[in-house]
Amino acid sequence: MIILSIETSCDETAISIIEAVGDFPTATYEVIGNALFTQIDIHREFGGVFPAVAKREHIATIVPMLEMALKEAKITAGFTPSLNEGEHARVHELLSRENGLADQVISFYQSFGRPPIDVIAVTTGPGLEPALWVGINFAKALSYLTNASVIPVDHMEGHILASIFDGHHLAGLQFPAVALLVSGGHTELILIKEWGHYEKIGQTRDDAVGEAFDKVARLLGLPYPGGPEIGRLADEARQANLPPFATLPLPMLHSKDLDFSFSGLKTAVLYAIADQVLLLEQKQALARDFEDAAVTVLTEKLKTAIEQYSIKSVILGGGVASNKRLRHAINSLSSPQLFPDIKTYLPELSLSTDNSVMIGLAGHAHLDTSLTPQEFAETIKADGNKVLGQS
Ligand code: KG4
Ligand code: ZN
Repeated sequence: MIILSIETSCDETAISIIEAVGDFPTATYEVIGNALFTQIDIHREFGGVFPAVAKREHIATIVPMLEMALKEAKITAGFTPSLNEGEHARVHELLSRENGLADQVISFYQSFGRPPIDVIAVTTGPGLEPALWVGINFAKALSYLTNASVIPVDHMEGHILASIFDGHHLAGLQFPAVALLVSGGHTELILIKEWGHYEKIGQTRDDAVGEAFDKVARLLGLPYPGGPEIGRLADEARQANLPPFATLPLPMLHSKDLDFSFSGLKTAVLYAIADQVLLLEQKQALARDFEDAAVTVLTEKLKTAIEQYSIKSVILGGGVASNKRLRHAINSLSSPQLFPDIKTYLPELSLSTDNSVMIGLAGHAHLDTSLTPQEFAETIKADGNKVLGQS
């Protein structure tokens, strides 16, 4: 089966074409086409992601990404009837809020033809609503033109599957499993008793950890996105063995629950800087102090969850899963001194941050909920606040 997947929830415009043989979760997957455009350079100028800018960029790049993915997959068109006036009008109607996209889609269809795909998987939440809508409405138009059914995908479930994907197969997870999902918008602990059963057992009460990395980076005068910059400076501080710059709090470390809080940590960094202009070494040391505090809280809460729920598999997912320090800490959980019986799963670096491969995998997990083009166009909503494990 050929799955075409679409991701536009934040600042990456991505389309993949995946061939799946067999049933989820034991299928063999071949990623035959994969195109991704990151808007990071555009958002860097503004110091962060503005939804209206993200939407504009998705509209500008989604058809080129589709063409790139199809080309890489060496997929050629099947039988292609030409569009009559009514069909023309329908595409315009479906894409009426995505200024300029209907014409691009129609000209793609007229020059390429109808791609022979079986299903379309598309992120419907969580994310920035104007950005999500581009992908959703694009999926509506594409399913209308190809007659492929559509599967709405939860972006966070995508992050979970990305972490257990080796490029061809999903790892055979032992349950119960717990996923620590860490991104720019989310910090959550998700208990997975079996596939499809997600229960949120912990979450941030304020900022997401990726957001805290980005905000602290801004305080240190580093460019967006700040996560990788903080990681780099923190590594330099460790290599140079720099002394601590500040004693930072470990928020919620001793709270009895599995919740997180990162806004106080960010404020503590702000107070530590006060009005000083920091030297490079001071920035490096403070980046390290912050990273240590954030990683400690995440790891300790995860340990509590492992004990509390007799966890067998630990999954780290989301953009912050690219952080070296965090990866090391999570990998170390399965050491003989800690939890020798658990297995830890971390995403390949290329699949840590947003991508559409993970959306295709999550789509395959939910083939049973696929909707006809008509049903999808009529019922689906963008849900910017959707949280995995909470309906
Ligand atoms: O999952 P993702 O690509 O997008 C969202 O769904 O939010 O995550 C993006 C977040 C950003 O906050 C970014 O700063 C953070 O992941 N990030 C990192 C690193 N790479 C990306 N944070 C810490 N260390 C990194 N190496
Ligand atoms: Zn993400």
